[in-house]
Amino acid sequence: MILVLDFGSQYNQLITRRIREHGVYSELHSHKITADKIRQMNPKGIILSGGPHSVYDDNSFRCDPEIFELGIPVLGICYGMQLMALHFGGEVSKASNREYGKAEINLANHPILFGNTPDEQNVWMSHGDKVMRTPDGFRTDATSPSTPIAAMSYQERQLYGVQFHPEVRHSEYGHQLLKHFVYDVCNCHGDWTIENFIEMEADKIRQQVGDRKVLCALSGGVDSSVVAALIHKAIGKQLTCIFVDHGLLRKNEAAEVTKTFSNDFDMNFIKIDAADRFLSKLDGVDDPEQKRKIIGNEFIYVFGDEADKLEDIDFLAQGTLYTDVIESGTDTAQTIKSHHNVGGLPEDMQFDLIEPLNALFKDEVRELGLQLGLPENIVWRQPFPGPGLAIRVLGEVTKEKLEIVRESDAILREEIALAGLDRDIWQYFTVLPDIRSVGVMGDARTYDYTIGIRAVTSIDGMTSDWARMPWDVLEHISTRLVNDVEHINRVVYDVTSKPPATIEWE
Ligand code: XMP
Repeated sequence: MILVLDFGSQYNQLITRRIREHGVYSELHSHKITADKIRQMNPKGIILSGGPHSVYDDNSFRCDPEIFELGIPVLGICYGMQLMALHFGGEVSKASNREYGKAEINLANHPILFGNTPDEQNVWMSHGDKVMRTPDGFRTDATSPSTPIAAMSYQERQLYGVQFHPEVRHSEYGHQLLKHFVYDVCNCHGDWTIENFIEMEADKIRQQVGDRKVLCALSGGVDSSVVAALIHKAIGKQLTCIFVDHGLLRKNEAAEVTKTFSNDFDMNFIKIDAADRFLSKLDGVDDPEQKRKIIGNEFIYVFGDEADKLEDIDFLAQGTLYTDVIESGTDTAQTIKSHHNVGGLPEDMQFDLIEPLNALFKDEVRELGLQLGLPENIVWRQPFPGPGLAIRVLGEVTKEKLEIVRESDAILREEIALAGLDRDIWQYFTVLPDIRSVGVMGDARTYDYTIGIRAVTSIDGMTSDWARMPWDVLEHISTRLVNDVEHINRVVYDVTSKPPATIEWE
């Protein structure tokens, strides 16, 4: 295991991710972790990440200085290197402005970290302060015109520092550098694979659960589906999945989920048809937040009613990902937001949590899903909000309007997949604003609904841009929507980014 200490760099998760790409398990922890704790964790190497502070700031992040005495190889990146230099008595100069972007470095004396990569190479810099004099015992491994010490090392003590960011793709040989660190310096073997992860995690689940029972709220989304498949592999019928069909799902979704889990995987699978219950609660409600609240609460009641009927359930499975754990702040990584994935289950439910994905990134979860035999349409499912189509029918939700948005969404998804754009566009769907306008079809005047297409690119949904989809694809979708979906006579494309808009319209 390689331990990455978080000093606040925007790239710190990326370092962890890159190490895993080399088949070596890696975790990100707070810079406040003690040397004692690290000793117990027994990592094969430590990476000190970059960070936004100057080492001279009053409130700058420091680490336990004992870390440098553990005999474990340490690689300092950017701020991490400056911290190392300062600790060992080198000189760090305070900068008045930042060096940001591409730089060319020159290597000196074939440093081990760089293997046989070229003597001149492009790297990505993003720093203010820089090391001006190496501490005693360290040597300079690379220089650049503006950064006299772009890399340094003290090989006998297995201490290394780079001023640039090897984790960023713009650093031409950064990937190799991290590989040399984990393989050649830390002696890792690169045998962490998703197949091994499945075996190890299944063993862990079997030990934790024994002969007791686990409950999983299955939404049909990627995370809860993968959790269910993994736990099912470990303990089979000791797992029960509850799937609530609130009648606000996409076309064929309930049938696909049922087929996969109830038939193909032969799980203990309970499907609750609660469409009427949800629709009657939504009757006459047009405020978006009110709609969300009603659906969230109803979910809790329906799920709770069903869970109450089951006996001897001790564990609740959740699809918490590593990013969820880290996002709650590595300083507070232990206080995982409970139940956030299932929209808030009843407070008084007395379950222990099982969160077998909480060490994985999203793309690793997808790979895991495929290895466990889940179909591609589940593994590559785009994000879908808990309140479902109810927040894509603007204003009051009726059966007729749900049908229009459901049919149009199915056509949009089909056409985007046919155009080969389904992995490029992060999220795409149709919305039904409460607008009717005049049109002409054949010789007749129509007065029907306008449908909106929303298609966005994004990394995590926090910000997004509208997808620059080819005109001919849009044209084809527009024609099909008007021809094949009753009550649509006009199609509009949403060209707003987030911010200022949000991805969903409600
Ligand atoms: P917005 O509309 O806030 O959406 O830009 C960002 C991402 O979150 C999804 N979303 C929701 N997911 N419950 C959910 O589980 C919700 O109430 C909800 N509202 C938005 C949205 O689909 C997008 O992926």
